[in-house]
Amino acid sequence: MGDKNHLLYVVTIHAIFALLHFIVSDAVETLARAVGRQERWQLLRNNTGVVAMHMALTHENTVIIFDQTEAGPSQYRLHERYNGRRCSTRSRADLKDGACYAHSVEYYIHGNNLRPLRFVSDPWCSSGSFLSNGTLLQVGGHGRGSQRIRYFRPCRDHLCNWQQSKRSLSDNRWYASNLLLPQHDRVIVVGGRNAYSYEFIPKLHTKDRSFNLPFLHDTHDEDGGGNNLYPFLHLSSDGNLFIFANRDSILFNYQRNRVVKTFPRIPGGGSRSYPSSGSSVILPLDHQDRFQKVEVMVCGGAASGAYEAAARGRFLPALSSCGRMVITGNNHIWKMENMPGPRTMHDMLILPTGHILIINGARRGCAGWQNAATPSLRPYLYNPKKSRGQRFTVLKATRIARMYHSSALLLPDGRVLVAGGNPYNTYTFSNVAYPTELRLQAFVPDYMDRQFNDLRPGNVTIEYEGHSSGVAYGTAFTIHFWLGRRPSKDVEYSVYAPPFTTHSISMNQRLLKLRCRHTTRDGGGSMSAVLEAPPSPNVAPPGYYLLTVVNNGIPSLSQWIRFIPA
Ligand SMILES: *[C@@H]1O[C@H](CO)[C@@H](O)[C@H](O)[C@H]1NC(C)=O
Ligand SMILES: *[C@@H]1O[C@H](CO)[C@@H](O)[C@H](O)[C@H]1NC(C)=O
Ligand SMILES: *[C@@H]1O[C@H](CO)[C@@H](O)[C@H](O)[C@H]1NC(C)=O
Repeated sequence: MGDKNHLLYVVTIHAIFALLHFIVSDAVETLARAVGRQERWQLLRNNTGVVAMHMALTHENTVIIFDQTEAGPSQYRLHERYNGRRCSTRSRADLKDGACYAHSVEYYIHGNNLRPLRFVSDPWCSSGSFLSNGTLLQVGGHGRGSQRIRYFRPCRDHLCNWQQSKRSLSDNRWYASNLLLPQHDRVIVVGGRNAYSYEFIPKLHTKDRSFNLPFLHDTHDEDGGGNNLYPFLHLSSDGNLFIFANRDSILFNYQRNRVVKTFPRIPGGGSRSYPSSGSSVILPLDHQDRFQKVEVMVCGGAASGAYEAAARGRFLPALSSCGRMVITGNNHIWKMENMPGPRTMHDMLILPTGHILIINGARRGCAGWQNAATPSLRPYLYNPKKSRGQRFTVLKATRIARMYHSSALLLPDGRVLVAGGNPYNTYTFSNVAYPTELRLQAFVPDYMDRQFNDLRPGNVTIEYEGHSSGVAYGTAFTIHFWLGRRPSKDVEYSVYAPPFTTHSISMNQRLLKLRCRHTTRDGGGSMSAVLEAPPSPNVAPPGYYLLTVVNNGIPSLSQWIRFIPA
């Protein structure tokens, strides 16, 4: 064989093998997806020490976990109280003293370890938001904590802790909701038990007060335990605030204290808000309509009378229905569909793929101490893009019940952290149906399976202009990543605002699909993509987001990106 022929021969053989490899691996993928889902559950730790009533992911890749301080001893013993007084293991009084135990911890994702944090007042059933610089602002709670404002400024040196502000809220906020607003790095705090009002923090002037919100009176259900607590808040891209409580919702101009729209009542009976504890998300916002179409989704909740029935030891089947409604434009109809089963006290999380994960909770009863039975062990996955009737998939069951006071959140590596559960007002481990749950798990979605590794974009990096610490609204920026195979036709670039999660509500959670102007393949699998930052803070309030490259449904590890005002 001549040299030329030999070369041709080698090239042809290579081409045939490459083609074969391509066909076979595509077929394997399709098969794997058709045959069986590959999602998994991981047990990360047997004991977090503290019930994960509230959780939030910081941009330092740690998770802040906290409970209430009035629950007495947790399972995280301290050597000394925060005021420095020693905690003796020989003193019975000290063993029972809640001050000798942690009620908040910081969890390090990479090390899978914990350290205790300090609270000086009780943050029981409170709310929170990240400010644009990544500091967690947390408000309210119970007793002396009910008007407190606290900050947690994430750090690398493991020395940061909760700081309590000297300023206080105007009203008591217990079971209130928070949302970071587009302007002035301020948060709106809405509702709470016996608080039919809203207010803004940090306050611009010391005389700033709270504002009455009649909608919260109208939606209050005294016999049902409120049913309008922890209202669902979503920021619409027109700058107005969507507020949902019980079964009703409004579009609210918070700058003028004016109801812009009253939406139709969601069908399906029962109630959706705490203690009925349905859950809600704003569906992914998309550059294809310039982020103008905003659609919210509400799922599950409790039957009418569930709260009263639970007090008598009867647990009514939860609601199975979900409603979707477009809140922009002029045509507002709840489009209803059913989950594969009834569900209350679940969390709804937006995955980097734009699918919605419905996880945790129970099939009967409602929220509150010992108010529920029959845990929902199987997560549901919802694909909003499929046609109705085909959107839900039932996923692999866990063996750990996640009842009242459990929570879940998305991690930067694509897993979902699942923790908590405690239907009692102290830590209770024996002779009860659903003991206090301190095991920490990760739900590992099927997109993380190794079989998809050759589709998975790797080493995502973000190029910042000069010394800038963020990307300005409406500007183009470049990212680099690695992809072994040629990219599929379907590559998406999503950014995700990490929520503050408690009581089935993930405050500030939103996902945007960014526009890609063009991509270049730099050789050796290196890729560059020029992306467009969101056009304005109304679409994505300033702060840290997780940026993910999703190739044919397979996400990269996420990288933190910060959007800042120009
Ligand atoms: C949790 O405890 C069980 C039983 O003692 C043990 O087998 C397991 O290895 C522990 N898991 C972790 C993650 O510590
Ligand atoms: C972020 O802003 C808050 C409020 O102004 C401030 O208390 C905090 O120290 C800032 N955090 C950082 C990391 O600069
Ligand atoms: C990704 O980055 C790591 C470390 O920065 C490097 O070791 C690895 O080779 C890179 N992988 C690819 C596929 O470029």
